[in-house]
Amino acid sequence: MTTLAIAEKKLQDKGFLDIDVDPTLDLFEEIEKLKKEKNAIILAHYYQESDIQDIADYIGDSLGLSQQAAATDADIIVFAGVHFMAETAKMLSPHKKVLLPDLKAGCSLADSCPPPVFRKFKEKYPGHVVVSYINCTAELKTLTDICCTSTNAVQIIESIPKDQPIIFAPDVNLGRYLVKKTGRDMVLWNGSCMVHEIFSNEKITKLMMRHPDAKFIAHPECEEHLLEKADFIGSTTGLLNYTKRNEANIFIVATEAGIIHQMQKASPQKTFIPAPPNNTCACNECPHMKRNTLEKLYITMKYEQPEIILPDWIIEQGRASIDRMLEISAKAGL
Ligand code: 13P
Ligand code: SF4
Repeated sequence: MTTLAIAEKKLQDKGFLDIDVDPTLDLFEEIEKLKKEKNAIILAHYYQESDIQDIADYIGDSLGLSQQAAATDADIIVFAGVHFMAETAKMLSPHKKVLLPDLKAGCSLADSCPPPVFRKFKEKYPGHVVVSYINCTAELKTLTDICCTSTNAVQIIESIPKDQPIIFAPDVNLGRYLVKKTGRDMVLWNGSCMVHEIFSNEKITKLMMRHPDAKFIAHPECEEHLLEKADFIGSTTGLLNYTKRNEANIFIVATEAGIIHQMQKASPQKTFIPAPPNNTCACNECPHMKRNTLEKLYITMKYEQPEIILPDWIIEQGRASIDRMLEISAKAGL
């Protein structure tokens, strides 16, 4: 049984997964009360549902969330995001209680790189530095020299001496983008994100024809053929900032649709069209991110469960890769 499955079973035994929330409760008010009572901070990723973004103390991309997790003086960090993000917060603040509303909020990209398989892969490339996208498990971070996010990936790669060979894991699409952008010939692990690989090229092309003045903006986790037609490529924060400063009035947004909440708030007069996926849905949602709900957030804060617990060796061996990333980012002014 994995550590995650054991933790889930314990919660099930205690009945935490079956608690009903009184539908008449004002959850915004209750959560605010709990925040103050427990000196808790809510960190939320842009892909969370709008209500969670609205109650969060900080909303951001993976880099911003890590920086906040490292700097906060709250006693409890409630992570409204996915498992690898909460694990990263725990590694950065090991003495704080880190809670995740749903332990099953995983990540297809993190799952695409199992540590025992990666260890064998790494052995085939002695002398290589391992750069891992932060969207990977805590255990993978113990096999990593430097982490990166989509905001700082270029700067991280460029901080490595030119004659030093690099393995990049786990996202092959971000990896290919970085090879093009930095000119470095890296060994790439073949992982990907289910959300960013399902966009329909055909439907996006039709949308671009229908809205010739629209800017098409994309996250670097998207496939190469989509990135080639993008007017701008960036992390979630990068995309949001682009829509704020660009003069265009219509944007076709190729990333998880949750980010549109902040785009629309920042620029209410502009139109944001979620890039459609290759199925019958109109927008693209991450099923892992969307496992968190306001109800689960409330229960998590009330009972201080489920908590992220990591073995000491994982924190000790994995943390250096995140610290290095934060140091390089700070030097680059990110
Ligand atoms: P960023 O918010 O860092 O761009 O990452 C996107 C993502 O896929 C998070 O799961
Ligand atoms: Fe993972 Fe993709 Fe969901 Fe981000 S959007 S949490 S990379 S599956």
